[in-house]
Amino acid sequence: MKKKLKMKDVKRGMALFDVHYPEHDKRCLDIAVQFCRDFNPDVFILGGDQMDMDCISFYNRNRPKLLEGKRLKKEYAGFQKDVLNRFEPYLGFDCDKYFFIGNHEYRVDRYLESNPQHEGFIEVEANLALGGWDVVPFNEAVSIGHMNFIHGIYWNKYHSYKHVNIYEDNLFYGHVHNAQVYTKTTPLVNLPKQGVGVGCMCNKNPSYQRNKPNSWINQFLFWYMFPDGNFTYYTPTIIEGRVVINNVLYDGGV
Ligand SMILES: [Fe+2]
Repeated sequence: MKKKLKMKDVKRGMALFDVHYPEHDKRCLDIAVQFCRDFNPDVFILGGDQMDMDCISFYNRNRPKLLEGKRLKKEYAGFQKDVLNRFEPYLGFDCDKYFFIGNHEYRVDRYLESNPQHEGFIEVEANLALGGWDVVPFNEAVSIGHMNFIHGIYWNKYHSYKHVNIYEDNLFYGHVHNAQVYTKTTPLVNLPKQGVGVGCMCNKNPSYQRNKPNSWINQFLFWYMFPDGNFTYYTPTIIEGRVVINNVLYDGGV
């Protein structure tokens, strides 16, 4: 018979995907900070695309008007102050912290391919206080119990189906900025495989989108993990800067 567990045996984790600073949604970020304070996570994940890094984007090359007021140093300093420094007080000494390189942070590597003379000066590790954080390379996954995390590879219409079928395991990811779940269960394996695309923490209509309709939604992820690696997860959706989680009202930006 299974041992009866107590809540102290259960670990807590929290993940934010696609903050896209400085195009982040301030109310969503407020809510995530408040929730983090209440939740006291054992694992904290920034799942990639924490920053936009527009000013070194290949797409903006030779388009200086789009870069007005945008500087990489300013973006790093703002992210440190407005994001990292706000969460750090609520991430305990033994909290496992992960900083995923998303396709936007990967713009640094792409920039260095044509400007190698700046190597060592513009990488995230050189500009953010990430001591105590694991920096996860672009497109690499992290496994915690039976959960696996990645920034996200596919952004086709049925991306959760594609992620589960290619990776053949539970996979939590962002990248697409919308919410999608696909589950796969076979009689041969007892555990269901869940592919979960988690929404974003950014402004749903950033300047570069130019009012185009999209499927983006504001969410974050939190979970409880049992000692055997099984888990229960939640992806609360934040609408107009408000969400209720477990009878607590979180009101962002007020
Ligand atoms: Fe993104």
